Amino acid sequence: MTRSIALLSATFLLVTSAAYAADKAEREAIKHGKDLYNSVGCSQCHGWAAQGGVAGPTLLNPSSTANFITQLRGPRAVMPPYTSKVLQDQDIADIYAYVATLPKAPDVKKIKLLQDD
Ligand code: HEC
Repeated sequence: MTRSIALLSATFLLVTSAAYAADKAEREAIKHGKDLYNSVGCSQCHGWAAQGGVAGPTLLNPSSTANFITQLRGPRAVMPPYTSKVLQDQDIADIYAYVATLPKAPDVKKIKLLQDD
């Protein structure tokens, strides 16, 4: 009995510390993505909270890391390209992870002041 309780506790500790480590790694990736988002210029065009700006659309509906990589390596229109000399695929994945944590803009129809009388 005591043995199985000890075994159960050990398993619990192992599982929770593994989850904690994974959680920590994820938080570090997001923090890294945030630092890059601001340091390599994304925020200049897409806004400090990815809300969009004069020079770039909002990124608050991010689709996937793969689409981010495609856009950054070969932008569709006027956005400057980012080669792997500037950002590795993992860096882009971290930027994506950061942007995916940002709160979405509210639905315009739910903002009273923007409704017609
Ligand atoms: C000089 C301004 C500028 C900078 C800097 C810039 N972008 Fe863009 N971005 C744009 C514009 C303009 C578009 C619209 C499509 C195009 O021009 O290719 C765009 C499009 C995108 C899209 C596609 C969005 C969609 O809805 O289709 C993604 C994703 C994106 N940018 C991510 C980034 C990231 C991440 C960075 C930083 C590593 C960055 N951009 C830096 C201007 C910029």
